Amino acid sequence: MTEYPKSKAWYERARTSLAAGVSSQFRAASPHPMFYERAEGPYIWDVDGNRYLDFALSQGPMILGHSHPTVLDEMVAALRKGQLFAGQHEQEVLLAEALVRLIPSAERVRFSSTGSEADHAVIRMARYHTGRPLIVKFEGHYHGWLDGVSFSVNPTLEQAGPVESPNAVPWGGGVPERDAEGLLILPWNDAEAVADAFAKHGDRIAGVITEPVMCNQGCIEPAPGFLQALRDLCDAHGAALIFDEIITGFRIDLGGAQAHYGVVPDLAVFGKALGSGQPISALVGRARWFEGIERNELYHAGTLNSNQSAVAAALATVRLLEADERAAHRTIVRLGTRLRDGLAELGRSSPLPLVTQGPGPMFHAGFLSGDGPVRSYRDVLRYDAAAYGRFTAGMARRGVRVIGRGLWYVSAAHDDASVDRALEAAAATLEEMASTEADA
Ligand SMILES: Cc1ncc(COP(=O)(O)O)c(C=O)c1O
Repeated sequence: MTEYPKSKAWYERARTSLAAGVSSQFRAASPHPMFYERAEGPYIWDVDGNRYLDFALSQGPMILGHSHPTVLDEMVAALRKGQLFAGQHEQEVLLAEALVRLIPSAERVRFSSTGSEADHAVIRMARYHTGRPLIVKFEGHYHGWLDGVSFSVNPTLEQAGPVESPNAVPWGGGVPERDAEGLLILPWNDAEAVADAFAKHGDRIAGVITEPVMCNQGCIEPAPGFLQALRDLCDAHGAALIFDEIITGFRIDLGGAQAHYGVVPDLAVFGKALGSGQPISALVGRARWFEGIERNELYHAGTLNSNQSAVAAALATVRLLEADERAAHRTIVRLGTRLRDGLAELGRSSPLPLVTQGPGPMFHAGFLSGDGPVRSYRDVLRYDAAAYGRFTAGMARRGVRVIGRGLWYVSAAHDDASVDRALEAAAATLEEMASTEADA
């Protein structure tokens, strides 16, 4: 007997028309995808009428919480004037100016609709401006689902090959093998490996793309000096340093990881939190990397780019995050840090090896085996995914929603009581898991 009969019934119905019953592979949850019907502030309700305190935040975008009234009002006002002009409008200039003001590398901006597209565009720009073919991509990093970067996202140890020169492992079927020829896969947080790669292939490397915090696997922060080492190597060899700030952007700092860690890339992409759930992403960077676009020699396009409601949502989001000396952002950092540390404390007093890692406004939780720090992708394979699946199911039964792969997001709509409730649910879930496992 499922605990979520309406979700299950909708899933059974959905999968006869909607492939696998979902519109994104990341929503294919166990035992079946969940169906939701509304969300407000820090809460989301499923179709069975259960309310959850939400730390999934739609995989990150809802940084102000769900259905923020100002964001909604601004979107509706914009939509009433028109939805899409296939021409310019004033609001997108205001938004571009805000990004130039906030993001250290941003001298020029272009808007796209998704992070995947923005990543695709900046890689094209790096290749165009250097005239070189290779992009350094790190094992375990995710830069969207398009062919050119769909390698070594989450390979098994058997597939992954030698740690210092990992295999380029396609992320699922249908990815052209020839796209691997445009990539050099390297271990992350290992400046020596990157220096070696530049020593061997420097005249063929167009750019290095990195999540500045490895959010998609373990939420690992860069080792001290690692981002600067990437900056120096790119400078020495005339390659583009590209930060994929789709998760870190507006979250670790309003100016992204580049503002937080003080290392300025040539190009960067922002999405998720920028748009409070609307389809908008931004590619930003130093002016010279945009010259190809400005000369109309390099193409970046999109029918839906900078559509009215997405731009209105983004402008409202940025203004709200900046208001009152960034009070909303300070709340996210404070609550996230409290929650991360509280969960770690619960882990220390439990027989189960729950640990947390990450900067605070987003962090990772998981059950870790073995010794030593988690510094790169292969260390992440020490997390017990099945145990975490039992943990998320227990949290859901207690009215707390977290993502299955361990990343926690906190919004400005959460408060100290939300953190208390999440910690109570985690304590009860851990206790239940420990007693079930002791009985087994
Ligand atoms: C770091 C990173 N880059 C790119 C993407 C792709 O963004 P989108 O899903 O908007 O295409 C994601 C999505 O999760 C991401 O986490």
